[in-house]
Amino acid sequence: MDAASLPHEDLAALLKWYVDHGLDETIGEEAIDRFAALPPPAATPPPITPPRTAAPTPIRAPAPPPAVRAPVPLESPQLVEDARELALRCTTIAELEEAVRAFEGCALKRTAKTTVFADGVSGAPVMIVGEAPGADEDRVGKPFVGVSGQLLDRMFDAIGMSRQRDLYITNILFWRPPGNRTPTQAEQAICLAFTRRHVELAKPKVLVLAGGTAAKAMLDTTEGIMRLRGKWTTLRLDDGTEVPTMPTFHPAYLLRTPASKRQSWLDLLAIDKKLEELGVKASS
Ligand code: URA
Repeated sequence: MDAASLPHEDLAALLKWYVDHGLDETIGEEAIDRFAALPPPAATPPPITPPRTAAPTPIRAPAPPPAVRAPVPLESPQLVEDARELALRCTTIAELEEAVRAFEGCALKRTAKTTVFADGVSGAPVMIVGEAPGADEDRVGKPFVGVSGQLLDRMFDAIGMSRQRDLYITNILFWRPPGNRTPTQAEQAICLAFTRRHVELAKPKVLVLAGGTAAKAMLDTTEGIMRLRGKWTTLRLDDGTEVPTMPTFHPAYLLRTPASKRQSWLDLLAIDKKLEELGVKASS
């Protein structure tokens, strides 16, 4: 029985099953039936025995290589170098955004609908770096616009800050991993080259790393978010600048574990205090 002849409820159940298993993207117009019987191998023609009297066959020159260059494998360390070089050449955030949008070296771009670069005010005192766009962000083209983004907005609103005025928001990754899977080390390393430059160009007074993936990648550590959160650390950038940095829980984690909101509130108060000390913000 093919899918088209299934009753409506069965099709709906099948679709739900796909989504529950993380298959929420269609990559091609037609589904590929990988279970379909493979075509039988072509029959091998019997060897041709040259007649005894035939002249020896001249040796043919090997066929020239195909004109198209083999694509660089998408896990290649060279891609990280390419990304670093491109990022370094950018001297403004607008140039960096253009370079990221034009970059073809990250496999995630092939399955994402949009490039999600940043939201908020570039040059704002607080820059927030999350992990990667989800389905909502991929659709809208802006970071943190789904439910976890709404919680992030409410959290910063509690200390009198908004993305329209005081926050600049981005992610380590600019493209949504299919089905929200964890990005590979290679994907992170490639995008990180741009994100580090992004921080250099945005020059925030304070950097907030939302969640374990962002904290580990930006701080180049294997330490988990449980140990990192709530403690100020200094991020040293490649241009020599240093940014006070606060790792904190990801809002998506807080939605799943509301009891941890208490710790996040302490992190927000510490951010508020630091901004006051730096003379960026009046006490709220
Ligand atoms: N989670 C993230 O880390 N970033 C987003 O933009 C949305 C959800």
